[in-house]
Amino acid sequence: MVGILKIGGSVLTDKTKLESPRMEAIERIAAEVASCSSGLVLVHGAGSFGHIHADKYDLRERFDPEGILETHRSVVRLNEIVVEALGQAGAHPVPVHPLSCALLQDGRIRDMNIGPLTEMIERGLLPVLHGDVVMDRARGADILSGDQIITHLARSLGADVVALGTREDGVIYGGEVVSRVTRENYHRIEPELGGSRGVDDVTGGMRKKVMELLDLADDGIPSLIFNAGKKGMIEKALEGELVGTLVEGSS
Ligand code: IPE
Repeated sequence: MVGILKIGGSVLTDKTKLESPRMEAIERIAAEVASCSSGLVLVHGAGSFGHIHADKYDLRERFDPEGILETHRSVVRLNEIVVEALGQAGAHPVPVHPLSCALLQDGRIRDMNIGPLTEMIERGLLPVLHGDVVMDRARGADILSGDQIITHLARSLGADVVALGTREDGVIYGGEVVSRVTRENYHRIEPELGGSRGVDDVTGGMRKKVMELLDLADDGIPSLIFNAGKKGMIEKALEGELVGTLVEGSS
């Protein structure tokens, strides 16, 4: 059983203030993840640890060595906080930095070293990846979102469960949570899907997430968008309970 869990940067940090971790949320989430960490890969977003730097250096548009280093160092600082909390909570976390093991082509993952992850999972370790700045064969470097990482890992590891924890209860349309999103109803809800709160989100907010997950669903892998800001939801999501929006293939 392989589970892939992403926790969005807006759950773990205050996106409006530079490098401000929400320690209470991080510690609660660490405890929840530690209690169901077997066979799991955790990917976290950057929140106010990466988006602000990536935006400042305009990293999606231009190659900037100083910006690459600053952005990477910033997300690594959040990764260290998350890994530390997971260790305190009794998991066996290991940091995995995409800058060192992934390569992009026009913003999409072209290569990623999966071998170490498989070994880690088999030996009871919890790999902890994160959105990062990553080398790109066409553009020099680009921002790789945690959302793209989870879909890539879901395919290459053959995940049984894919769950994406945000600060929303799922995909919202007309003030209500949409329980299922498919290619069929996507066009109807799409106009209401926004970006994200706080700092400029260089990786695109809810619309981009759903598009990424619909591509995954096309390959036969459904995924769940749920609220990781609420206690107890991570376990339910990983157990396959429908506690948010299920993004799935057309029937
Ligand atoms: C963004 O990762 C990575 C950087 C800006 C360096 P994500 O797109 O996964 O982060 P969140 O979840 O939106 O904060």
